[in-house]
Amino acid sequence: MNSFTSEQTPVHASPAALRALIESRRAVRRFTAEVIPDEVIRDCLEMAVLAPNSCNLQPWSFQVVRDPALLKQLHPVCMSQNAAQAPLIIAVLARPDTWAQACKDIVTYWPEPEVPQRIRSFYAKTAPFQYNQGPLGLLGLFKRQLVRVLALRKPLMRGPNSKAQMRLWAVKSTALAAENLMLAFQSHGYATCPMEGFDEPRLRKVLDIPRQAIPIMLLAAGRQGEKGIYNPRLRFPLEQQVTWL
Ligand SMILES: Cc1cc2nc3c(=O)[nH]c(=O)nc-3n(C[C@H](O)[C@H](O)[C@H](O)COP(=O)(O)O)c2cc1C
Repeated sequence: MNSFTSEQTPVHASPAALRALIESRRAVRRFTAEVIPDEVIRDCLEMAVLAPNSCNLQPWSFQVVRDPALLKQLHPVCMSQNAAQAPLIIAVLARPDTWAQACKDIVTYWPEPEVPQRIRSFYAKTAPFQYNQGPLGLLGLFKRQLVRVLALRKPLMRGPNSKAQMRLWAVKSTALAAENLMLAFQSHGYATCPMEGFDEPRLRKVLDIPRQAIPIMLLAAGRQGEKGIYNPRLRFPLEQQVTWL
């Protein structure tokens, strides 16, 4: 596993190389039967989890489906869409429920011999206060009111202070990991298709997904098949979407 520390010299990929990688990724709907080696999948997952994420609590998990029998079950769950016939499907799960364990894991896995006091204090006090919503979200309700009053005096972060905000909180970071994952496969010469076209209750059953985990997308991956790309690339003009201030 990669263990970058603050001492390491940053590596800059050339803009041209990064653009080439990003431009080469397309949503691919047809794959060959070629199996992706586990070492490649692992390498891609390692790159996925290098994504920036909120407070480094890494609120995600992944279910790597390679078993042909399980893949066969997933196809109808994905409404029998072509992309779901890939030799690999990774369920990308947002985890609003893992922050408490993650606060402990930060200290356990700290990459230096001594865990700085500010880190211990942040993950023992600040982060738990921020992310704990209490039973029935009641603590979140209290925090919402508290923050509303305190923020009259100075700017304050207003959330996440509810179960719904916690779900959004986890989804943001997990989506970044999903994009890393797609680009990582692309860099290895494999194509991907993110899919939200699935029946969630059935998916939960087939993959035995933990109740609080949110399957944000299924990532189909494999070697691009014939006529794997359906349409030419289309993006709206930047001017329509960007405001320069
Ligand atoms: C969250 C999300 C869900 C998607 N779901 C599906 C899907 O279920 N089936 C599918 O064929 N493509 C799906 N796509 C792929 C998009 O249709 C595709 O990314 C978009 O048309 C742009 O094309 P491009 O990725 O080739 O640039 C999804 C993409 C995202 C980001």
